[in-house]
Amino acid sequence: MWCVSLQRRHFHSCLCLMKNVGGKTAAEQRWLTRQRKDPYVKASHALNFRCRSAFKLLEIDDKFRLLQPGHSVVDCGAAPGAWSQVAVHRVNSTGTDPELPRGTVVGIDLLNIPALDGAHFLSSHDVTAPPTHAKLQELLPKGQAHIILSDMAPNASGFREMDHERLTTMCLSLIDLAEKILQPGGSLLCKYWDGFFVQKLQDNLSSVFGSVRTLKPHASRKDSAERYFLARMYKKPVKKK
Ligand SMILES: C[S@@+](CC[C@H](N)C(=O)[O-])C[C@H]1O[C@@H](n2cnc3c(N)ncnc32)[C@H](O)[C@@H]1O
Repeated sequence: MWCVSLQRRHFHSCLCLMKNVGGKTAAEQRWLTRQRKDPYVKASHALNFRCRSAFKLLEIDDKFRLLQPGHSVVDCGAAPGAWSQVAVHRVNSTGTDPELPRGTVVGIDLLNIPALDGAHFLSSHDVTAPPTHAKLQELLPKGQAHIILSDMAPNASGFREMDHERLTTMCLSLIDLAEKILQPGGSLLCKYWDGFFVQKLQDNLSSVFGSVRTLKPHASRKDSAERYFLARMYKKPVKKK
């Protein structure tokens, strides 16, 4: 529901100039119709997920078993918090199952992230900023994470190549973050938008991860350029003296 309202806000800001007084534009009508028909929107309401993106992570995790009880997870671009909801459940960070180890979930976003039991949120924080990296090191057990998740996305400018380049730059900054907080053997799951710089991103990931693959979960809309890189088996670079 939260994501729906965020998308709607962005949608309004893009289309307000085209709007007929007192009515909805054709594009707004199409958006609302798509939302109403979307089975993932319906299911996210039924299951109390904060937005439909929860199903992308559920699908990926069901296949690759990335989130294990006791794991430490960093969720980049976490607002409104649906991926963190999935992570809290899967790593047992509320300690709901006392038989299993208790994990840690830390979420970061430029926006406010409404509180969630089992997660620690850094709202109004930029994932790409070094002071955020330092705070993460303080919050994580032994300063280390098993996995970095990133569903981050910049506000769309409407210029596809520019948006693609901005998101690629954000993804590349996650490699710097990994160097500080990702434990050897750890994983990174990050969203990107398809385009010219994808090969560069994949090459950079491949230089520090043993395996990198592209994913397009069913819950990701077919007509969107959205894809995910799943990079596993992190090889921490040896620091030069
Ligand atoms: C698609 S939403 C994430 C949805 C989230 N995975 C969920 O399931 O609720 C993308 C988020 O990335 C955030 N974002 C974009 N740039 C960021 C940055 N530099 N640092 C932190 N968050 C950022 C946006 O504010 C936005 O909330």
